[in-house]
Amino acid sequence: MPQPTEAVFLAPCEGRDARRCAELGIRICDDAPPSSWTLRRDEDGALRLRTPQREAPLAIEVDFESGDLARRLRTASKSQPIARAVSLHRRQSPPCVLDATAGLGRDAMLLAHLGCSVIACERISLLAFLLADAAERAPFADRLDVRHADAMDVLTAIGPSSVDVVLLDPMFPTQGRAQVKKEMQVCRLLAGPPGSQEVLVHLAFAAARDRVVVKRHPHEQPLAGPPSLTIAGERVRFDVYLKPKAASSAQ
Ligand SMILES: C[S@@+](CC[C@H](N)C(=O)[O-])C[C@H]1O[C@@H](n2cnc3c(N)ncnc32)[C@H](O)[C@@H]1O
Repeated sequence: MPQPTEAVFLAPCEGRDARRCAELGIRICDDAPPSSWTLRRDEDGALRLRTPQREAPLAIEVDFESGDLARRLRTASKSQPIARAVSLHRRQSPPCVLDATAGLGRDAMLLAHLGCSVIACERISLLAFLLADAAERAPFADRLDVRHADAMDVLTAIGPSSVDVVLLDPMFPTQGRAQVKKEMQVCRLLAGPPGSQEVLVHLAFAAARDRVVVKRHPHEQPLAGPPSLTIAGERVRFDVYLKPKAASSAQ
């Protein structure tokens, strides 16, 4: 799994934070080296991730109580594009979704908030740390299972047709939008450019009972050939690949 060269949790680090550091292999330090990515529980109680001091300093957190994410959750509805892409509006009970590329969990949290059971896989330990920390405090904690793992391993382990939907949101290409939010800048710095998605799509298709949903930039080509349906969002597009049985009942 790709990892930053150096990452530390800046002391004090206690309780759950210390346990999570041990689980994710993150060193606890009194003083962060300038080249190191740093996690720190600040005085306001928020957990923040900071880029190395030698780079333009950026600090991010996963905050579902205020700011952008909170607004997104407050205004969430079953008729918005991502909810329609997982077919939330048509089902009797909300689906089980495996978010294979969870990042900072904005999509995973939105779907859990709308009632889906979500398994969120993120292979970068620092991002998985931030997301798991936020998830356990969220009102939808019992519907959001954060795993620090490569989704390919999780998809292989869970076996065929074991979740309703697999959601894929590989990193957007670096060109395109001049202004990228700092959260996405940090994800890009940590994750690097996306590699080939062929195997991931193949495993996703096997693990999904109903459909695979791929989130794309509107100008990007579909990831896996022509989709069964396309749902346009404000700044993104959802390409939906239906499994044969779901395709016949969706028409
Ligand atoms: C564009 S971000 C996802 C943003 C996310 N949808 C959100 O709402 O915050 C892509 C993320 O997928 C992760 N990723 C890419 N391939 C992965 C894989 N095979 N397993 C787990 N995570 C992966 C990257 O580390 C990166 O954090």
